[in-house]
Amino acid sequence: MTDQPNAPAGAQTVWDLPLRLFHWIAVSAVAVSLVTGYLLGDHWLFLHVAAGGVLGGLLAFRLAWGVIGSRYSRFATFPLRPSGVRRQIGHLMRGRSDLHTGHNPVGAWMIVALLAGLGLLVATGLVVWGGQEHQGPLSAVIGYKLGHGVKEVHEVLAALLLTAVGIHVAGVVVETVVFRHPVVKAMVHGRKPVPGSGETARTVGLTHTVVGLGLMALAVGAWLYWFYLPRPAVAPVRTSQAYTRDCGDCHWAFHPSLRTAGTWRTMMAGLADHYGEDASLAPDRRDQVTAYLVAHAAETADTEASHEIGRRETASGRITDTRYWQRRHRQLSDQDFARPDVGSKMACNACHRDADTGRFDDDMIQPPKGVPA
Ligand code: HEC
Ligand code: HEC
Repeated sequence: MTDQPNAPAGAQTVWDLPLRLFHWIAVSAVAVSLVTGYLLGDHWLFLHVAAGGVLGGLLAFRLAWGVIGSRYSRFATFPLRPSGVRRQIGHLMRGRSDLHTGHNPVGAWMIVALLAGLGLLVATGLVVWGGQEHQGPLSAVIGYKLGHGVKEVHEVLAALLLTAVGIHVAGVVVETVVFRHPVVKAMVHGRKPVPGSGETARTVGLTHTVVGLGLMALAVGAWLYWFYLPRPAVAPVRTSQAYTRDCGDCHWAFHPSLRTAGTWRTMMAGLADHYGEDASLAPDRRDQVTAYLVAHAAETADTEASHEIGRRETASGRITDTRYWQRRHRQLSDQDFARPDVGSKMACNACHRDADTGRFDDDMIQPPKGVPA
């Protein structure tokens, strides 16, 4: 394609502006999603998902641009033939690397792998976001179990993507440092000093560029809108007044989805000795509260809290004795719970703004200042 060593070198515009923007915004979004996914706590999930939304839009744009973009953005110009890959690897083994106008064969396959990997990550992310968190466009059609299962796939894909990004960056470093091909600069200003091969890439027209930028903005906007559709699916259970009156005196009136119907029945039958306190109620009020708790017990909900806490029986009947609860709060000390603005472990609503709905969404975790989150 461009192996004409004797021809004079001339800088050509190879990467059009929309493609370069796509590349660097995608780099930032991938960085944000890796940092929020691997290093930061659950309450950063909104940022992780925002990065996923941006990537979804960027990928939609890239697919379109792969057809209607300028010459080297188009998938049809990707040198994917095995013979080219073999030739390039042969050259590399002999310490040689030709500067290609567009992508080189190995690089082109890398791009295909990265785009496919990102597409799968966005798709599985949507399933997890919809099923496990009951948010986003798929929340109404995907249940907790499926979302929870697909999360494992999402995590494996993330590890693969991290590896692919590492190889991609290593390739770029080798090109730049060993072979002195200014490929990073080319992705900034778009031009490459390519040995003249007669196939000058015409400068990309203004209209073409504007259409590309508009398309990208539209795609990203549409995806973000789609990702952030209002949260339906789990209708927040309105706390019954009778319940808060009768069970909200000594501690926050726990959301009914945090225990099973069976556990509530047992607890309501033993109120005279309720963890050492007498919490007895008149029979009609006791029956009213029991009916409310049973009607909205864990089995009736599909939230993460109802699956991971509510459905898990504990010998003590306690919510705070479940493994999941303990794991999620292990960074908090007894002092954190004893603070005057929290009170106790049972004051779920001191740190979870949506505790009364039973959702316990990650982005609704807002402990008082000073509590490690
Ligand atoms: C007289 C005060 C009082 C009343 C009224 C009361 N509780 Fe409790 N409740 C307690 C105490 C004390 C504990 C145990 C606190 C501890 O040991 O940390 C507790 C614990 C609990 C727990 C276990 C919490 C955990 O740590 O996982 C649940 C569930 C519970 N109560 C439900 C109810 C319900 C339902 C009602 C209404 C019928 C109710 N409580 C009314 C005092 C009360
Ligand atoms: C002192 C503040 C505080 C109190 C009180 C508290 N939590 Fe939390 N909770 C947190 C923090 C912080 C996290 C996030 C931990 C992390 O980043 O993994 C969390 C995480 C969770 C999660 C996981 C959310 C998710 O989607 O990942 C659930 C469910 C939860 N808490 C339920 C409860 C329940 C039920 C109670 C009451 C029995 C409670 N919490 C009391 C601070 C608190």
